Amino acid sequence: MMTPLVVVGAGGFGRETVELVRAINAVSPRFDLRGFVDDDAALIGGQRVGLSILGPLAWLAEHDDVTVVACVGSPSSIGLRRRVVERLGLPPRRYATLVHPAAVVSPSVALGVGTIIHATSVCTADITIGAHVAMMPGVVLTHDDVVGDFVTFGAGARLAGSVSVGPDAYLGSSAVVRERLEIGATAIVGMGSVVTTSIPAGQVWAGNPARFLRLVGERTAIGSVSAA
Ligand SMILES: CC(C)(COP(=O)(O)OP(=O)(O)OC[C@H]1O[C@@H](n2cnc3c(N)ncnc32)[C@H](O)[C@@H]1OP(=O)(O)O)[C@@H](O)C(=O)NCCC(=O)NCCS
Repeated sequence: MMTPLVVVGAGGFGRETVELVRAINAVSPRFDLRGFVDDDAALIGGQRVGLSILGPLAWLAEHDDVTVVACVGSPSSIGLRRRVVERLGLPPRRYATLVHPAAVVSPSVALGVGTIIHATSVCTADITIGAHVAMMPGVVLTHDDVVGDFVTFGAGARLAGSVSVGPDAYLGSSAVVRERLEIGATAIVGMGSVVTTSIPAGQVWAGNPARFLRLVGERTAIGSVSAA
């Protein structure tokens, strides 16, 4: 029997995940893709990648038969995916865990619920990955890495062995992290960065070698701090 699936968020990540589900179904039909839910009123009733926007997130409260994936989040909205999942308040069994058929996830890798692994990503051996983690295409995690809940990896991000990434952290596209380092909770690592030292929680680092840029939530170099 096909599992009914609704994607939360009709932005880029949500649409990419629809294509991931179609790739799974092309190998072996598993999911009945019902559509998106999104709180952007302008989208509701329309279509994206051939699927309907069914309604706002509240739509899910009236449809307890569907499975869900949360596909929201960007470096400018750290913690958003966690807030959405907390707001939905669904039990873990309501979340689908999605691995693209062209990703390699070894049997010794533990995956949390709601985690999404896009095409050509590789998880080698003895890796623990939390719930609602987003791995965009081409991410490589290696032996003994530990990844907290709600972490996001941009396309091509790579961790050497025994790296630990705290909850809600964001690693930009093609960032690389040296072995045995710690990336703190909610930290942001800029695209293309080469991380050679551990990064404390709540900080934005970037460059080669990566250096402190600002605090998460601090919007400009002039130093204004938002409450977001
Ligand atoms: C790190 C990041 C969050 C910083 O954003 P920001 O706070 O708006 O920073 P700004 O663009 O104002 O840049 C501030 C300074 O940092 C530098 N900088 C920004 N990102 C950098 C990066 N990835 N590597 C090196 N330097 C970077 C800028 O050149 C600028 O330097 P300057 O002050 O000497 O002019 C952002 O640049 C980034 O890398 N985001 C991730 C993008 C990504 O991977 N998306 C993937 C989607 S799947």
